[in-house]
Amino acid sequence: MRRPFAARFDRSRMSTSGHLAAVEEPQVTASRVFQLVAEELALVELEFERQARSNIQVIAYIGEYLRASGGKRVRPALTLLANAAVGSDPARENVVRMATVMEFLHTATLVHDDIIDNAETRRNRPSINSRFGNQAAVLMGDWLYMSAFETSLRERSLPVLDILTAVTRKMTEGELLQLTTLGRCDLTEETYLDILLRKTAYLFSACCEIGALLGDARDEERRALASYGLNLGAAFQLVDDLLDFTADEDALGKAAGVDLLEGKLTLPLIYLLERDASRRADVQSVMREGGYTTVPRARLVAAASQTGALEAARSRAYEFAESARAALDALPPSDYRDALAALPAFILERDR
Ligand code: IPE
Ligand code: IPE
Ligand code: MG
Ligand code: MG
Repeated sequence: MRRPFAARFDRSRMSTSGHLAAVEEPQVTASRVFQLVAEELALVELEFERQARSNIQVIAYIGEYLRASGGKRVRPALTLLANAAVGSDPARENVVRMATVMEFLHTATLVHDDIIDNAETRRNRPSINSRFGNQAAVLMGDWLYMSAFETSLRERSLPVLDILTAVTRKMTEGELLQLTTLGRCDLTEETYLDILLRKTAYLFSACCEIGALLGDARDEERRALASYGLNLGAAFQLVDDLLDFTADEDALGKAAGVDLLEGKLTLPLIYLLERDASRRADVQSVMREGGYTTVPRARLVAAASQTGALEAARSRAYEFAESARAALDALPPSDYRDALAALPAFILERDR
């Protein structure tokens, strides 16, 4: 199993970013953030295992394959931390159960996303589609979605269901919208951000808002946590796209440089084309070839770096991270609020 996000975070890397100094030195380290809810996260693992059980052998097998592959568990951690930050006890059975539901929903989107993206690797292992085939992967994704909903019904809470159905619809819309933009070099920042909010950020927002709801938060706190999650999620996907563009596969645990190969223009490249239109031919050539033979990936990264496109995309992620932090002002001071406040900086600095 992969080590969790927290254990892999190397504090020494934080000094390498000029931005971080401005984000204000966090009071707590990333591992400390996750340690605050470590016991509850361990309960989430058990609950995941319980929810993935099935009399149908193939479902139980793939469910366990997914659980054992780990993942950073950012989304359940958000539900737990948000719940605690409004003064509730996140170890309560229903909070752990809903935190697990959020990871189930996330897992379902990954299983489907890897079919759509033709991804062979996920979390340093063969993806479900490459290991078990597309047919099994489609059905397993469906099963995960429906199991998540079935479990969430135990809350007997219409507000919870409202949030979950809205976010699931938005995630699907994001992936569909993205499909329609594949191969296009004229994608605008606005459309890019619209897709990014839908496919990733609303789920982060839902994780935080449900944590707040289960903790009987005041409306203002609930709204603040929803906004925190949305901005954090946007920063998270922006960093994912930046990492896809610049990082290598071993560090990521999934293929790198593939967004462009699939025809996905991400923010660093949108900014590069805005700054230097003559790069369009290079970008089109990579999309057409589905490879970096004629135009090496390093050449595009260097161009994005030289024109300031890379830095501008990082700044955009930084702005979202700052907005996330600012939203927390509506919460009473606590270790949990500090932990949430520290997360945006870690997300900006993450390497996978
Ligand atoms: C991957 O999410 C999908 C995106 C929204 C970029 P994570 O990076 O949280 O994936 P795991 O769960 O840690 O593998
Ligand atoms: C995020 O988009 C997908 C979901 C939100 C499911 P990506 O396609 O960039 O995610 P990765 O890179 O495959 O994890
Ligand atoms: Mg993908
Ligand atoms: Mg990606």
